[in-house]
Amino acid sequence: MSEIVKYGATFKWLHWFIGIVVILMLIFGRSLESLPLSEREQIIMGHSGLGTIVLLLMLLRWGWRLTHEPPGALETMTVFQTRASKIMHWTLYVLLLLQPVFGIFQAMFITDYQVIAFGVIDYSGLAAADEGMEKIFHVLHGVTATVISVLVIGHIGAAFYHHFHQKDSVMKRMIPFGKP
Ligand code: HEM
Repeated sequence: MSEIVKYGATFKWLHWFIGIVVILMLIFGRSLESLPLSEREQIIMGHSGLGTIVLLLMLLRWGWRLTHEPPGALETMTVFQTRASKIMHWTLYVLLLLQPVFGIFQAMFITDYQVIAFGVIDYSGLAAADEGMEKIFHVLHGVTATVISVLVIGHIGAAFYHHFHQKDSVMKRMIPFGKP
């Protein structure tokens, strides 16, 4: 069993920053499509910029995770919980990388407006507009968002279950300044 009992400060801050930004993007992303085109183009500047930051931070997080040993499973956890949490965490790692990548590809092929992240990175200028490709990445970006939303709800539910029902330190060891 791992001797490590808590996550490092860098990892905790990456976890909370990425988590909050992604949850806000999942909530507000859905309403983007009902906006008029000119307004959508403005809002997408922020959406694509924040998504690009999530992508860069997820690459950092992958690097951190592959080079540092995380705290091990607790004695309060069943074999099922240990396995399920591993599957859940690695699925989230993969999908949180794919989500912004699908967004960037959608932006590259977009036909009806320009996607310029933070008004600086012109993703739509990287490739010729293509309705078929845009549609494929639009569907992938939407489906991945739905799967991430379900996993995030499960992830938060599991953290609360540990904290309030099992009363162990699973949630505490991820809280900045928290003592496991
Ligand atoms: C973790 C990062 C991201 C999250 C959580 C996210 C989330 C979402 C969600 C929930 C939608 C609505 C999908 C639907 O209802 O079908 C959406 C739409 C969209 N996203 Fe993202 N996104 C992210 C990153 C990006 C990036 C990096 C880009 C581009 C560089 C991007 C470009 C777009 C575009 C162009 C749309 C379509 C808006 C429209 O319908 O006109 N997204 N996003």
